[in-house]
Amino acid sequence: MNEKIRRIGVLTGGGDCPGLNAVIRAIVKTAHNDYDLEVIGFVDGYEGLIENRYRRIDLGEASGILAQGGTILGTSNRADPFRFPVLQDEEYIYLDRSSQAVRNFESLGLDVLITIGGDGTMAASSGMMKKGLPIVGVPKTIDNDLFGTEVTFGFDSACVTATEAIDKIHTTAQSHHRVMIVEVMGRYAGWLALCSGLAGGGDIVLMPEFPYDIEAVCDAIRTRNARGKNFSIVVVGEGAKPIGGSMTVARTIETSPDAIRLGGVSHTVASQIEGLTNIECRVTILGHLLRGGSPSAFDRILATRYGVEAVHMAVRGETGRMVGLQNQQMVSVPIEDVAGKTRVITPGHPLLKVAQSMGVCLGVSTSVSLEEHFKDPVAS
Ligand code: F6P
Repeated sequence: MNEKIRRIGVLTGGGDCPGLNAVIRAIVKTAHNDYDLEVIGFVDGYEGLIENRYRRIDLGEASGILAQGGTILGTSNRADPFRFPVLQDEEYIYLDRSSQAVRNFESLGLDVLITIGGDGTMAASSGMMKKGLPIVGVPKTIDNDLFGTEVTFGFDSACVTATEAIDKIHTTAQSHHRVMIVEVMGRYAGWLALCSGLAGGGDIVLMPEFPYDIEAVCDAIRTRNARGKNFSIVVVGEGAKPIGGSMTVARTIETSPDAIRLGGVSHTVASQIEGLTNIECRVTILGHLLRGGSPSAFDRILATRYGVEAVHMAVRGETGRMVGLQNQQMVSVPIEDVAGKTRVITPGHPLLKVAQSMGVCLGVSTSVSLEEHFKDPVAS
């Protein structure tokens, strides 16, 4: 145990998601109840550390926020300390502000920094560790695409929201005999599409990892119609793409470490299906709805476990590591093993087989194996 620890810093980075406040609450309560530590919260992620914007978070502020979405600290997905955007003469220039961040950390007398975030935050944390900051990471993202943990908090809540949406869309699909296309976020990984597709009883699920064959998609729709099911639900991950095609980029944000924002592939899927089958399609893009709202019970417990364990790790001096969940147990992994990687669905994942046994079309012709069809969306 590291007896010297007195003050810990915390920040939330990247896109928000349900459960961030549950982690902050768990950190503050554990720091206070178990160790009598003071917690300093940086505002807007790494931006706050760089610009020295912070406040003390006491038990009062951390109380009553368990069920609250978003983050009481604010966040930013354009605050890479090594390439920090600064507006100069109406144009952005990029500065290395990592040394300023270290100075601010030191002048506050902090012993450890807990960074709650996804791959961008872990990549920044890995760099800051090399500059000497003792960091404990907590894995967050609705995309569920972080290495080192079986699940990130935020994912389950997003799945619940997507599933409820798919349930509601089912009724219109049935009543109007339409093909309804529901697009979910998830970036380069299909976890949200696959899991909400399974939970919502989707008929076709298209994921970034398996470029879709539109003929296979239309065959599945025709087969359903021939069986008297004159409607279909297609769940599409925003990173899905047709065989030989590329992902649909909605916009690029130059100041963001990952500049690409995906979105809109479902319109292409809809016009392809209408063109080939003559069946009317409608598109619903769930977008940021998936990041909002109250965390699910599963996420509240997971976020709480992560927050509690992060403080225990800080006190044990177990820094440079990210807390994770493996086989239901809290574990920790080196942050540098996680940084810069994306955990996608690989062809052997058991949920894919479950989906196929349930007759769900994965956008692949039955004559082609998933292994043959797999394309790493990050590499391609
Ligand atoms: O990583 C979380 C996520 O919601 C992705 O699913 C999505 O692609 C992206 O962030 C959207 O980012 P922004 O909030 O910048 O539009």
